[in-house]
Amino acid sequence: MKQFFVLWFMAIEIAAAQNGLAAEGDVANGKILFTKIGCYQCHGYAGQGGRAGAQLAATSLKVQDVIRYVRHPTLTMPAYTEKIASNQELTDIWAYIKSMPPPKPVKDIPLLNQIKERQ
Ligand code: HEC
Repeated sequence: MKQFFVLWFMAIEIAAAQNGLAAEGDVANGKILFTKIGCYQCHGYAGQGGRAGAQLAATSLKVQDVIRYVRHPTLTMPAYTEKIASNQELTDIWAYIKSMPPPKPVKDIPLLNQIKERQ
């Protein structure tokens, strides 16, 4: 019985991996969905994150990781079901956040450097 479950989980993992490989995602549609579904409310329009959400811009997460997290967040983020955001829509959002430029390093922000120099 135990082996059956192990095989069953492996089959699910393989199917998920294949989905991931096939997934590319539509960046333009992802941008629309990021606003429409409301990810920006906590993660920011530039995916920069902040007090309410983690940085998503230039994410190194794989599409399966993003889908898994959005369906089953571990901390304070609300979960999104398939009804609210389909796997295809999340794949598009993933493609969009991956394409966002990462935030500037602190050393490239003059105001922050001035504050640091004063200390
Ligand atoms: C109500 C605020 C809120 C909204 C809306 C929200 N998130 Fe989040 N998200 C968070 C917070 C806070 C975290 C940090 C971990 C936690 O507390 O769950 C997070 C973490 C994540 C992570 C994990 C990041 C990492 O590097 O580990 C992903 C991926 C993510 N969010 C994607 C999304 C997507 C996609 C949407 C829109 C469908 C979305 N979130 C909407 C608050 C939010």
